Amino acid sequence: MIPLHVQAVSKTFHPPKRPKVEALKNVSLKLEAGKIHGLLGPNGAGKSTLIGMISGTLIPDVGSIEIFGVDILKQVRNAKMLMGVVPQEITVEMAFTVREVLYYFSGMYGVPVKERNPRIDAVLAELDLTDKAEERARNLSGGMKRRLMIAKAILHKPKFLILDEPTAGVDVALRQRIWQLVRRLNAEGTTILFTTHYLEEAEQLCDSITLINHGKVIREGNLKELQKEFAQNTIHFELFDTSVEHLPKVKAVGVEFEYPLVDLEADMHAITSHYNGNLKSIKSGAASLETIFLELTK
Ligand SMILES: Nc1ncnc2c1ncn2[C@@H]1O[C@H](COP(=O)(O)OP(=O)(O)OP(=O)(O)O)[C@@H](O)[C@H]1O
Ligand SMILES: [Mg+2]
Repeated sequence: MIPLHVQAVSKTFHPPKRPKVEALKNVSLKLEAGKIHGLLGPNGAGKSTLIGMISGTLIPDVGSIEIFGVDILKQVRNAKMLMGVVPQEITVEMAFTVREVLYYFSGMYGVPVKERNPRIDAVLAELDLTDKAEERARNLSGGMKRRLMIAKAILHKPKFLILDEPTAGVDVALRQRIWQLVRRLNAEGTTILFTTHYLEEAEQLCDSITLINHGKVIREGNLKELQKEFAQNTIHFELFDTSVEHLPKVKAVGVEFEYPLVDLEADMHAITSHYNGNLKSIKSGAASLETIFLELTK
């Protein structure tokens, strides 16, 4: 069964007294079961709009979306039971305790009464929220609220999990924990769709990616193949002093710099003689996803 099949979906917003926004234009997407899939694109590309439609909170103008063969528009409740969704915006039931929130959602998603508390305890432990179980949701920190949202989404053990920027603004330890969780759920057969702006995260986690920009799919496929296509065409180097005048074609990528490789010997020579003693390290290799991304979205 295909976890997600999006066919030719478009969505235009008509905000009052402002110009319309064509958020998605004829987007199609098909996910392979059991894989981790990254939905990537710049701010405003349309990722959350697409996720809103997949999860049944937004209605497409045209097109269809099926979750394991169930049409989200025609059978919204059935389709929703098959997936877990962690939206980008933090939304928790402020007035209730963590356990009350989770108990309510486990009921809504059909977890049998006897299993609810043991399952809630397991999820709380995995997300390091055990000692916050009786705390009101409004008193949680931002990162804890994010964890509560993840807990809500996985209680009913969905076979398809969607996470919209799950690691935005979370600390390093929590990010690692979320990665672990994503890997464990995936190893147990859950198909994952997630968005992130941390490209190294996508590199580490994703089997395949879809790149969207201005509401359109501009590239999709296997991440390794995409990297292979852009592979061996880049020289990476680091500098001690980064505030120097650069060679043309040099691009800053995180703490590194990248230079497009044409002729290894000549290019290496150009870089070493220009930066000289300022050069901390230099190597040739595959382009980072960040570079591929910038290439494809420019
Ligand atoms: N309810 C709405 N009314 C009007 N415009 C909207 C609405 N929701 C989204 N948009 C617009 O649709 C476009 C796509 O937004 P969307 O939230 O899907 O982007 P995104 O890819 O998730 O970006 P980000 O990485 O910043 O989360 C943006 O131009 C946004 O302003
Ligand atoms: Mg978004």
